[in-house]
Amino acid sequence: LKIGVLFGGQSAEHDVSIMSATNVMKAMDRGRYDVLPIGVDRDGCWWLGADDGEPLQPGRGVQVALLPGGKGRLVAVGDGAATLPQLDVLFPVLHGRFGEDGTVQGYAELAGVPYAGCGLIGSAAAMDKDVAKRLLKQAGIPVARSVCLTASDPVSATAISDRLGWPLFVKPARQGSSFGVSRVDGSQAFLPALETAFRYDAKVLVEEFLQGREIECAVLQHADGSLTVSPPGEIVTNKKHDFYNYEAKYFDPDGAAIHVPAKVVEAVVEQAKILAADAFRALGCDGIARVDFFLTEAGELYVNEINTMPGCTNRSMYPLALGKCGISYSGWIDVAIEFALK
Ligand code: DAL
Ligand code: MG
Repeated sequence: LKIGVLFGGQSAEHDVSIMSATNVMKAMDRGRYDVLPIGVDRDGCWWLGADDGEPLQPGRGVQVALLPGGKGRLVAVGDGAATLPQLDVLFPVLHGRFGEDGTVQGYAELAGVPYAGCGLIGSAAAMDKDVAKRLLKQAGIPVARSVCLTASDPVSATAISDRLGWPLFVKPARQGSSFGVSRVDGSQAFLPALETAFRYDAKVLVEEFLQGREIECAVLQHADGSLTVSPPGEIVTNKKHDFYNYEAKYFDPDGAAIHVPAKVVEAVVEQAKILAADAFRALGCDGIARVDFFLTEAGELYVNEINTMPGCTNRSMYPLALGKCGISYSGWIDVAIEFALK
């Protein structure tokens, strides 16, 4: 099977995607798959490279496009009228906008090529934290209280903090890896935090702070439709960071510890697994997702967000958590490809 692995991309998470895709490619069984790395540069152009073990670098190779209706046929852009392979499956290992938000998924559908991971609707719903919250609430799944703002909305830090208290979290509605996210401890820092978030998105969420632990479940759907939901793992962020931010996630070696499984009582494990599956369905997800929670001191679980292309870097929860269910790294990739082809 010819698997086109998309990496890079136009979002702020370009570099994270390269780290994730490097690991995904490393784990793909070359006995079963011909792996075709396709780098997406920061302008969104696709480049077909070689599976030669060199560091992934969008912009190397032949510029290509998926042909609408071509059932995976790649065409060269420009003079390179080379004969290009036909993809059997597209595997977008892209995070954030134009990768995890339904757009690439829609493109794959137009091209008529099966793709791994979540479909168009689930991807789009999960990417937008405002829409996701509304769907989760409707399904009776607990979420942190929040206010959604666009740049033209009147803003009063006092009115918002009267409702949600301090500290607050200010987040771009459609971003990942904590880009543009701030923890705000008082009114002085509120407007600068909004400005930062609006640099990343025209829609911003102001959310109450839930004191508690951060736990996450991996969800993987099999070709027969059944779900594997992992027991939760826990992220313990080093206190030197305000919260589990970009640096703590990927660059500070002591930024955060990942415990798999989380040391929580059995009732929390069971409840997290149920809520993870409920949240996955509420958003119309399929294939792959990681569901992130806050666990309060009172033992209550709140869904923080759902990531439809969870990080697969060396410091990422998704593959580790699936490992606890007896599903190896190459194992979940096989399942994701089988699901795409079903
Ligand atoms: N958005 C990052 C990659 C994650 O959720 O893991
Ligand atoms: Mg995320």
